Amino acid sequence: MRLCFLVEEQYRHDGMPVEVIHQLVSWGHRVDVLRPGSSLVAVSEAVRAGSHDAWVLKTVSGGPGLTLLEAAAAVGLTTVNDARAIRGVRDKVLAAVIGRSHGLPVPLTYAVSRWESLAEVPEADYPLVVKPADGSSGRGVRLLMSPDQLRALGADLADQGTLIAQPYVPNSGTDLKVYCVDGEMYATERCSPLQPSLTTRERRVRLPKEVARIAAEVGRVYGLQLYGVDVLMGPDGPMVVDVNDFPSFRQVPDAPARVARAILRLARDADTTPRVGAAVTPPPAAARIPVQLP
Ligand SMILES: Nc1ncnc2c1ncn2[C@@H]1O[C@H](COP(=O)(O)OP(=O)(O)O)[C@@H](O)[C@H]1O
Ligand SMILES: [Mg+2]
Repeated sequence: MRLCFLVEEQYRHDGMPVEVIHQLVSWGHRVDVLRPGSSLVAVSEAVRAGSHDAWVLKTVSGGPGLTLLEAAAAVGLTTVNDARAIRGVRDKVLAAVIGRSHGLPVPLTYAVSRWESLAEVPEADYPLVVKPADGSSGRGVRLLMSPDQLRALGADLADQGTLIAQPYVPNSGTDLKVYCVDGEMYATERCSPLQPSLTTRERRVRLPKEVARIAAEVGRVYGLQLYGVDVLMGPDGPMVVDVNDFPSFRQVPDAPARVARAILRLARDADTTPRVGAAVTPPPAAARIPVQLP
């Protein structure tokens, strides 16, 4: 198969996706790698109908990678995950609306474009977790215990774009992280970034049935096949606080081979019907994609 991976600088040396790419190449597949954040990309030439069997995205939220993946989808190429599904989870405002409207256990969510507007959140909703709508890896996540604390620390929340705020879900201090690889599920436990004193490393744990049911529903609701779900075991049951497309799959046994197999299956079985308006002619021989194997 011919695959194109979009990988940003941050993941250049990361086990995921570099090992997945090596695995695919060792099985005889051709993998081109585009680094949208760090090199010049001749987009009008690189994104061509028929150039690859699938494009795969492993980039940071808010980076240029998702736009390129959407461009690939727009010319009729198969993308892993589906580009619209990725948009639905990378924007935490969208993710909260989609999740709650489909009955998933997602906390009540406020969205503001200026931190000062958080002053309107009712005191009854404190403690409050505030995070950037395009955040990832715990960046910029803050716990505010009271409106007084908002007034004291608010300026730290400036210049982060749209913010979301949710009531704090009481929990043991550890996240239950569920990794889903094309229908298979694995659970790990990891210290919440809001609990810096706990330092337990991520480790495999049993996946409770109820959480497995919710994680499967997350895949259906958002339309993802390779994804992770951050769950907190709150007093009213499991709560979904985050959904990630193409997560680390840390602690998933044989993750590179498992993820590589899933990508091949998804690329092979994707609906190959061209979308309305999509170009269907193969690229001219001159259309070159920079090939940089890691
Ligand atoms: N509503 C919440 N209540 C309690 N803890 C939360 C809440 N939302 C997030 N957290 C904690 O903050 C961490 C980071 O938030 P998350 O939404 O996963 O953002 P990121 O995209 O940065 O991973 C979560 O893993 C969880 O431990
Ligand atoms: Mg998270």
